[in-house]
Amino acid sequence: MTATGTFPATRMRRLRAATWRRRLVRESVVTTDDLVYPLFVVEGTNVRDPIAALPGNARLSIDQAVKTAQEAYDLGIPALALFPVVDAKLKDEHGKEAFNPNNLLCRAVSAVKKAVPDIGLICDVALDPYTVHGHDGIFDGDDVVNDATVEVLVKQALVLAEAGCDVVAPSDMMDGRIAAIRTALEARGLVNTMILSYAVKYASAFYGPFRDAVGSRSNLGPKGKHTYQMDAANTAEALREAAIDVAEGADMIMVKPGMPYLDVLAAVKNNINVPVLAYQVSGEYNMIVGAATAGAFDRTAAIHESLLAFKRAGAAAVFTYAAMDVARALRGQK
Ligand code: PBG
Repeated sequence: MTATGTFPATRMRRLRAATWRRRLVRESVVTTDDLVYPLFVVEGTNVRDPIAALPGNARLSIDQAVKTAQEAYDLGIPALALFPVVDAKLKDEHGKEAFNPNNLLCRAVSAVKKAVPDIGLICDVALDPYTVHGHDGIFDGDDVVNDATVEVLVKQALVLAEAGCDVVAPSDMMDGRIAAIRTALEARGLVNTMILSYAVKYASAFYGPFRDAVGSRSNLGPKGKHTYQMDAANTAEALREAAIDVAEGADMIMVKPGMPYLDVLAAVKNNINVPVLAYQVSGEYNMIVGAATAGAFDRTAAIHESLLAFKRAGAAAVFTYAAMDVARALRGQK
């Protein structure tokens, strides 16, 4: 138990009475080092197609993604998370385009790496952008099948890593995929390719705007993603998921969504010794920006406060659609 004094010897307000005092005793801080900016890539040139549900974000053709990557780098953002918006013609039941070494995402990765070599690139490993049904894996009967999906995910991870992706981030929630991907990367000599495991990913309503952005909402069916993504009610299970993936070789663990799951983030952080990241997902960003636009509160202040909450809960870094704005605000350039 913390020793504490009594009033008036102890006045808590003394510590808050001036800016310098608050700065001196501040326990958490948000810097640009904490930010990962998710970016959506489409075919074409000179395309910046605004995403209505993610104000300030757009689907970018590769040339524009390169431009934005340079801006992000200049602002001090350490890494980008790239997501492809795949042409409907290339989607099928099995997500075969995911392991085409010349697919949109692989081309985007090599272009960005060539132009901005020192920004980190993180890519999802999951089949949802590539399947007609929008699920993260392939079907056998009426459910996504685990082991056959893992085989495809390994191929997907390899083409991404070979294109220059620094961090493969399995977000599919299949069992055993971290070990399988690590083994395959080592066998190819890709020893420095990191794995960020979305070990703790909940079946969430908050992914809506993302699914619209990549066109994967389509028709998930009555079960949704509940047979592989986690039940929102569970914390003990999150600790098992994280521990298993660390044992299988994950370098970092993701907890997702973010704000509604800060208790889980703190629990995972306190239970494992690898960096834990969090994702302020599309629905969270949409809510904050929507409320700010409706006049409920100041957008910049609300986003900063939300990121501070992630840091307080133990996040090493946060994926956020506000990353560019936050980095600009931190530079004082608004
Ligand atoms: C796909 C994936 C999703 C998100 C990131 N990767 C959606 C899903 O699982 O359906 C959501 C991110 C967001 O909402 O911002 N595996």
